[in-house]
Amino acid sequence: MLIVREVQPTDLEDLFECYNSYYEELKENAALGLPASAGKPTMSGELEWFSSLSKKIAEGNTIAIVAEVGSHVVGMCEVSRALPSPEVAHRGNLGLAIRKEHREKGVGTALLKFTLDKCKGKFEIVELSVFSSNDAAKRLYSKFGFKAIGVRPRSIKRGDGYIDEDIMILTL
Ligand SMILES: CC(C)(COP(=O)(O)OP(=O)(O)OC[C@H]1O[C@@H](n2cnc3c(N)ncnc32)[C@H](O)[C@@H]1OP(=O)(O)O)[C@@H](O)C(=O)NCCC(=O)NCCS
Repeated sequence: MLIVREVQPTDLEDLFECYNSYYEELKENAALGLPASAGKPTMSGELEWFSSLSKKIAEGNTIAIVAEVGSHVVGMCEVSRALPSPEVAHRGNLGLAIRKEHREKGVGTALLKFTLDKCKGKFEIVELSVFSSNDAAKRLYSKFGFKAIGVRPRSIKRGDGYIDEDIMILTL
């Protein structure tokens, strides 16, 4: 059964497993649409990230929604306010990832729908960067009305090559 809900402190271990799984996946899938982490994820790094995330949620600057399958978190969607100027505070930047074995089963759709509903009244514009080659993600975002407004060329430097990113926005 799929449950979509706000993140909670007890999710830390599962979120660490998710992060680890993307780190491992990137070793065999150079097309993975997530920027690589600086090194192998560590629990202390994860704790630091989670405490900063919790602070941003408490301040009303971040919405973090998780998807749970079989009592485990298998993906997360986060929207964070552009800071620090109040003149850009109406914009939120979105990130989304699902563990490989749970993709193409509607989890991303459910997670994005719930997250965007939560964004209403908190953000006016949701924006994101997506690898131009990431057709699955681009189709998902388009389904929800995101429009591509431009391309950031050579946005990601991976190995000897570069990957462009599309910038997409949704006005709520
Ligand atoms: C992008 C991602 C979040 C989609 O999540 P998902 O759970 O697989 O998505 P869903 O099963 O809900 O599918 C949603 C839509 O995405 C598109 N899609 C999903 N997988 C696809 C694929 N392999 N090829 C083409 N389109 C695909 C379809 O339009 C689908 O809608 P439809 O079934 O109504 O046609 C997931 O593939 C993922 O986590 N990828 C790795 C991380 C990543 O790329 N994150 C995005 C960073 S910007």
